Amino acid sequence: MPAAHGELWIALLSLKRLLAAASPNALALFFDLPSNPMSGKILTLALASLVAASSALAASAKIKIGFLVKQPEEPWFQSEWKGAEKAAAKYGFEVVKLGVTDGEKTIAAIDNLAAIGAKGFVICTPDVRLGPAIVAKSKGADLKVIAVDDQFIGANGKLITTVPYVGMSAAKIGQAAGEGIVGEMKGRGWNPAEVGVCVITFDQLDTIRQRTDGATGALTAAGVPANRVFKSAQKTQDVEGGFNAATILFTQHPDIKRWLICGGNDTAVLGAVRASEQRSFAPADVIGVGINGTDCIDELRKSKPTGFFGSIRVSALSEGFVTSEMMFKWVTAGTVPPLDTRTTGIFMTRANLEQVLKDDQ
Ligand code: GLA
Repeated sequence: MPAAHGELWIALLSLKRLLAAASPNALALFFDLPSNPMSGKILTLALASLVAASSALAASAKIKIGFLVKQPEEPWFQSEWKGAEKAAAKYGFEVVKLGVTDGEKTIAAIDNLAAIGAKGFVICTPDVRLGPAIVAKSKGADLKVIAVDDQFIGANGKLITTVPYVGMSAAKIGQAAGEGIVGEMKGRGWNPAEVGVCVITFDQLDTIRQRTDGATGALTAAGVPANRVFKSAQKTQDVEGGFNAATILFTQHPDIKRWLICGGNDTAVLGAVRASEQRSFAPADVIGVGINGTDCIDELRKSKPTGFFGSIRVSALSEGFVTSEMMFKWVTAGTVPPLDTRTTGIFMTRANLEQVLKDDQ
């Protein structure tokens, strides 16, 4: 007997037992409305439990789609989850949200998804080199996979382009961040030859490398000498990682009085801005522009401006929605998603923050 029928059968049996216990004639009430008010109440209760059982049944019959993210605490990924929930509400599937902060958790999550009968999942992996293992494991469990944000790397060290991927137009978005810095630098009348550029890198991720390269390209194109561009790798992709990487640079270059700061995402730049404050740089001498536009909202809402000038806002909500929608159509209608889908962003500062947020809900 299929599991769904089994659940309905159990629900009917419990109803029958309930009615039989209530009154010797209660079973008859199963079909005829009772004349006795007490039995009526019992019947109502019994029917209510039947309704509850059948809606549980309907819920369990929903298609399940996993949404696995590497940093569940970060606003970017929480927004992606929100987008996935929106798609789930629109199409009537269930989204199973799982934080996968390391390889072990990733493999366990795929096992769990298979065990609950999920059909596929969207993942931002904690390590792109897990790509081949994720692909193999999913094939074995008959689960479809879409990579979001961070594209898998194969055993040969090259990007895996056969798994559908949705992510930022990284080079362009990086360039937009660089141009945002240039615009503000010009507005403040700084001499590009005198500034220092603090670039927080994380080259393990191709998307981040492209973003930081895009940003530095825009800065050098605007006249910042290449020998004043200083890169520092963050060990962890968070505020602390950005802070530590920037502190090294600021210590190495005590002669530089004005800093431009870029990085692969908001947390990298926020960390570097915190490090500049620690070294007593005034906000007026620092221009930092992040990427994501999700992790810097509190910062941009502070009553006084900080060195964090703005961010390229990309819609994590749309990325969550679109990837889950693609997965739903793939598992239900066999529509294979495009292999490469890119998103763009807009420059967000304290000036347009509220409007940008309003437009992306
Ligand atoms: C990477 C970064 C995230 C976010 C996404 C967007 O995963 O770590 O902060 O920028 O890319 O694609």
